[in-house]
Amino acid sequence: MKWIYSLSLAVSLAVQPAFADDMFGPHRLTPEARDAFVTDLLAKMTLDEKIGQLRLISVGPDNPKDAIREMIKNGQVGAIFNTVTRPDIRAMQDQVMQLSRLKIPLFFAYDVVHGQRTIFPIPLGLASSWDTEAVARVGRVSAYEAADDGLNMTWAPMVDVTREPRWGRGSEGFGEDTYLTATMGSAMVKAMQGKSPADRYALMTSVKHFALYGAIEGGRDYNTVDMSPQRMFQDYMPPYKASLDAGSGGVMVSLNAINGVPATANSWLLKDLLRDEWKFKGITISDHGAIKELIKHGVASDPQDAVRLALKSGIDMSMGDEYYSKYLPGLVKRGVVSEAEIDDAARHVLNVKYDMGLFNDPYSHLGPKESDPADTNAESRLHREDARDVARKSMVLLKNRLETLPLKKAGTIALIGPLADSQRDIMGSWSAAGVAKQSVTLLQGMKNATEGKATLLYAKGANITDHKGIQAFLNLYEQAVSVDSRTPQQMIDEAVATAQKADVIVAAVGEAQGMAHEASSRTDLTLPESQQKLLAALKATGKPLVLVLMNGRPLALTHEYQQADAMLETWFSGTEGGNAIADVLFGDYNPSGKLPISFPRSVGQIPIYYNHLPTGRPYNSAKPNKYTSHYYDAVNGPLFPFGYGLSYTTFSVSPVKMSSATMPRNGKIEASVTVTNTGKRDGATVVQLYLNDEVASVSRPVKELKGFQRIMLKAGESQTVRFPIDVDALKFWNQKMQQVAEPGKFKVMIGLDSARTQDAEFTYL
Ligand code: BGC
Repeated sequence: MKWIYSLSLAVSLAVQPAFADDMFGPHRLTPEARDAFVTDLLAKMTLDEKIGQLRLISVGPDNPKDAIREMIKNGQVGAIFNTVTRPDIRAMQDQVMQLSRLKIPLFFAYDVVHGQRTIFPIPLGLASSWDTEAVARVGRVSAYEAADDGLNMTWAPMVDVTREPRWGRGSEGFGEDTYLTATMGSAMVKAMQGKSPADRYALMTSVKHFALYGAIEGGRDYNTVDMSPQRMFQDYMPPYKASLDAGSGGVMVSLNAINGVPATANSWLLKDLLRDEWKFKGITISDHGAIKELIKHGVASDPQDAVRLALKSGIDMSMGDEYYSKYLPGLVKRGVVSEAEIDDAARHVLNVKYDMGLFNDPYSHLGPKESDPADTNAESRLHREDARDVARKSMVLLKNRLETLPLKKAGTIALIGPLADSQRDIMGSWSAAGVAKQSVTLLQGMKNATEGKATLLYAKGANITDHKGIQAFLNLYEQAVSVDSRTPQQMIDEAVATAQKADVIVAAVGEAQGMAHEASSRTDLTLPESQQKLLAALKATGKPLVLVLMNGRPLALTHEYQQADAMLETWFSGTEGGNAIADVLFGDYNPSGKLPISFPRSVGQIPIYYNHLPTGRPYNSAKPNKYTSHYYDAVNGPLFPFGYGLSYTTFSVSPVKMSSATMPRNGKIEASVTVTNTGKRDGATVVQLYLNDEVASVSRPVKELKGFQRIMLKAGESQTVRFPIDVDALKFWNQKMQQVAEPGKFKVMIGLDSARTQDAEFTYL
């Protein structure tokens, strides 16, 4: 097939210098060649065709296939999302090539957040691995599978730092810490985009949600954000910046307002910061329906006004509404919006299409028709081994009294709970094109592990919730949670009778998938009452009780912590979840995950996060004093701190050794510890470095994560772990919003969680 572009592309290639990695993000062609190509193309386009490029829509009841065919024919659409099979994608790209005047390829995007066909743990679980190589593997496999389905772009990674367990979307991100989120986000971008998003098995990423979505007031979804510039740049912005520096071609703009101005209408955010300061060259895409929402935000008077505001503020492409297409032509005619402004936005769209290699070959992620998989959901398309391995790494052992775990593959085990055999819930929210029927439940995983060795009994024990209103909420669009026809008491009776026959109880409790999702904010973080009653009845049997938690946010588990002998946080662990959990429960894998977010004791403590500022009246639990900063009606501090997680072995950390007592101006220093596996099993752990600027011109957090290393130690083995510290780790935003490192004393804290550390000090000269 011949493309109208082949000639101009050949010309650009002829003048192109040899490839170097740093030429333009990850792409192989020079920005000059791309600019020349796009300028040439823009000159051929009508105003309507340019506006058409700014429209991103989803095939569905609002936009049936026939209507989309017409739009494609008339050059009125630039990209499609939510279409995920090669035949469907090819059909639309064929229409572009056969029916449209300029044959500008569409790009195809989807929410590939933790897997495409194979589902990995939710991102909060991925972050719990503290393993950048594992996260990169998830990125590579997801991109491979999604590109194999014909997709070009993903709406990921989500790098919204959050201190809000009430917010259901924390499940999609990497937790409460800036450094950890930035590290995971950039690892994901690099892995998904590979050398170039144009490569056959790479995807372009679209970092979201820009910006500060994780800081919405009260954790109520879509709510507003009000934040000091210092906190914004110190704690919330760095992960977006790091993901863009890693080369992300796209940015999805958030639905929230920032200090009164919706992100979608925020020219400071999208132009001054993103384009001028950060030099972002890719594409900005609104979140779903966000342009329309500017009217409800109260910053636009009518649809035209909303469109004017969004475009002028820097939104290139509109997702999920017809406003740009409908109103931009009139706005240009009336001189409210200039054609140059439309050109700018259209250029960004064409640029990313160029970077995706679509002008070179619109079918590059499709291949020939004959190569389409006969069955899109074929077992052979899954990457189960990778999924199982990463899932095991994401699990966090929270409690293990008297070495209840690992379990023996012998005797009788009672598996109880509404999440023990749910193929759907274990996939977690945004499980993309993953098929629940292909997931391994905990029941199946434990069966696989104990076959012929132990007796495994099962009872559901309770519904996820007996709250009718919440059941209706969860089942609003589809039958997501099933409600047993038996009474709650009948279910509990069966569970207790089952437990009484067993040596040990494993209770799978937590949240349904839909309880930790978009628009799933909670005011209560305890287990639903139905499950609490079940646990109380199980506890009363006197049998050892192991809790397997499945949830997408920190829960308030104060009571369960007292009841349980052992607790394993498994998040929503994906396609191979059941096998992976069984690996951990039976000790075929020694858990090494660490919490990427603090677990509160109750909702009333929120926000509770480890890297808080000091107060003038710090609370000391060893020496309580009324006039100090604390709550008098509860134990203070989190139930489980950030960075916390146990192992089946034990580790010791030596005192910290500093390479020098002083760090020269703009120089370097090294802190090191020796970590020893003092137990009887081989195991991995995560060594964490925290810093505190003791005296500065503004109060600095009591500690901040500045480095981590995941190490594997054989029983009895020791390893010295070295952390280089440079001036960047000391920097902060001062009152004048300058990023500075101030001379003075710094505390160095190294440990296996954020609460228990070995401490040292150095002076920055
Ligand atoms: C969400 C985005 C998502 C988009 C497309 C929106 O409702 O906020 O995170 O990428 O839908 O599915």
